[in-house]
Amino acid sequence: MIVEQRIRDYLHSLEPDQGDLLEEISRKAIRDEVPIIKKETGALLKTMVATKRPRAILEVGTAVGYSALLMAGVMPAECTITTIEKYEPRIPVAKANFKRAGEESRITLLEGDAEEILKELEGPYDFIFMDAAKGQYIHWLPMILRLLSDGGILFSDNVLQDGDVVQSRYAVERRDRTIHARMREYLYTLKHMEELETSIIPIGDGAAISVKIEIEKERVGK
Ligand SMILES: C[S@@+](CC[C@H](N)C(=O)[O-])C[C@H]1O[C@@H](n2cnc3c(N)ncnc32)[C@H](O)[C@@H]1O
Repeated sequence: MIVEQRIRDYLHSLEPDQGDLLEEISRKAIRDEVPIIKKETGALLKTMVATKRPRAILEVGTAVGYSALLMAGVMPAECTITTIEKYEPRIPVAKANFKRAGEESRITLLEGDAEEILKELEGPYDFIFMDAAKGQYIHWLPMILRLLSDGGILFSDNVLQDGDVVQSRYAVERRDRTIHARMREYLYTLKHMEELETSIIPIGDGAAISVKIEIEKERVGK
């Protein structure tokens, strides 16, 4: 946990009820140990979607559809979400949840490995939510940037890995060292790429918010 429990509990207590369906999906996900976005990160994600007012959202990592439905609740009526999930048991649950929410026409679930699907997608997307295999973020970044429109937002979740990312390599369990190194490389790259403006926010498990800058037009004179 990277935010003091007292503060986190207080922030949670301020969150309004999400409605019966989302509350049920979230309760069941927690019960079944399905990893879904933390409440406070979900609030930030919704705020960013409401600010950006995207036309097309891409989500990598659907799980049971909870975060897609959070975004659908605040996106413009004409916006669509494409979401990718490879773990078969979760796919029918997510689809059923989209249907129950009446969102099956605005949310399309692509079944399979993001690695393969990202290569084939055309885009552009003006909001991309990265929430799948953390060790792959750095590897997927070029494909994500190809799909992200100028001025588009990339929202990456779990980037501080519950605080582990700040530890030295030797303080991290041996089995977690590869993912630790890759996440550090991802964050360094987000912060140092000329075409991205990134802020890393210590909320939930850490979120990085990046905006794709049109270098020629926006950075002239810098
Ligand atoms: C943290 S969960 C997503 C949670 C969801 N965004 C939410 O907050 O409701 C990550 C999901 O990504 C999926 N995933 C992991 N690696 C993937 C890959 N290479 N391709 C597609 N899905 C993947 C996992 O099966 C898992 O369901």
